[in-house]
Amino acid sequence: MFQRTEPTDCTITWQGRSIPARAGEPLAAALLAAGITQFRTTVVSGAPRAPFCMMGSCFDCLVEVDGEQNRQACMTLVAPGMAAGPMAPEVVGA
Ligand code: FES
Repeated sequence: MFQRTEPTDCTITWQGRSIPARAGEPLAAALLAAGITQFRTTVVSGAPRAPFCMMGSCFDCLVEVDGEQNRQACMTLVAPGMAAGPMAPEVVGA
């Protein structure tokens, strides 16, 4: 779906899976480039959600980053060694 145009220079993890990334790029872009298309689920129906606006407006990209909940993946810049994943069910309200 998405293809990188520039080489990666670091590694991050998504749910413990190693993901090649580029320091300073948006976390959402790194995850999408790695083929990860479900970032969270909706509270009411459990429908999968992925980044939509990529500019901080829709909040469909909320994830956990280094233990901090409710981080917008599109507004969070990759740092080497960053650990990300879906938010815990108790945080989402599921
Ligand atoms: S993709 Fe819309 S807020 Fe991140």
